[in-house]
Amino acid sequence: MLFALYTLSWFLLCSLWWVGALTIGIPLTLMLLFSRTFRSSFFSWSFVYVIGPLFQPRSMPARKKAFQILKECVANRNKNVPLEILEIGVGEGPNLTLYPENCNLTVLDKNKFFESYYMRNAKKFPHISYQRTVIQPAENMSDIADNSLDVVVSTYLHCSCDDSYAVLKEVQRVLKPGGKYVFLEHVCYPESEFGLSIQRLINPIWFLYFNGCTLDRDTATKIKKSGFSEVICEKYLAPYWFLYLIRHQIVGVATK
Ligand SMILES: C[S@@+](CC[C@H](N)C(=O)[O-])C[C@H]1O[C@@H](n2cnc3c(N)ncnc32)[C@H](O)[C@@H]1O
Repeated sequence: MLFALYTLSWFLLCSLWWVGALTIGIPLTLMLLFSRTFRSSFFSWSFVYVIGPLFQPRSMPARKKAFQILKECVANRNKNVPLEILEIGVGEGPNLTLYPENCNLTVLDKNKFFESYYMRNAKKFPHISYQRTVIQPAENMSDIADNSLDVVVSTYLHCSCDDSYAVLKEVQRVLKPGGKYVFLEHVCYPESEFGLSIQRLINPIWFLYFNGCTLDRDTATKIKKSGFSEVICEKYLAPYWFLYLIRHQIVGVATK
């Protein structure tokens, strides 16, 4: 009797798995594989409604660290003059709650599907003087003038950009001399750790479901090698097993 129940449960579970795979899993994966537009729109939707509620509260300690660094960098500024800030790869704007008073914020993202989510979110933060949204890749921010910004911010961007060095070159172009680039990124596990193999194993499917995100990037080295006059880069280990694949992070500031 017990054996029959056990067999029946396995049969039901396997059938459910196959029904799920054939009706949702496989068609979804094929659409993500063959349509960039679908991938971008699916990612923005899932990042806001599925991943966001799980990830954003757990990423808040790291975000606060990044914005504490920003606060320290601009501590001596004249508070009557607005701080000109650009956030690249803004997504739906999970950092908005952390921006200091009196800043003029321009945001940029290559994924146009995030714009409506961002606009909805931005309304909740009247202390920020929102300037405009630029839909462009950070590798070529032709809408942003040279030497025009005090600060550029990016959080969890380099994992999914096409060319980090091109992004970093653009960041230096748009920053004023002495301007600050504040960053927070998830990066690869150290070579000696098993987590790196897991990151590499999962990369292909992760790339599809997270719109180009690659788990094993060494962004710290790229930032250090990209020509800033000074780079302060700290390691940060996310204290959640839930974030196992993106546990290793870096947070810091680079000066033009
Ligand atoms: C993982 S999401 C992070 C969103 C948000 N910054 C956060 O901290 O939650 C990566 C974001 O960067 C954007 N992005 C990726 N590569 C980009 C690029 N080359 N130029 C501009 N935006 C980019 C994506 O469209 C997405 O909105």
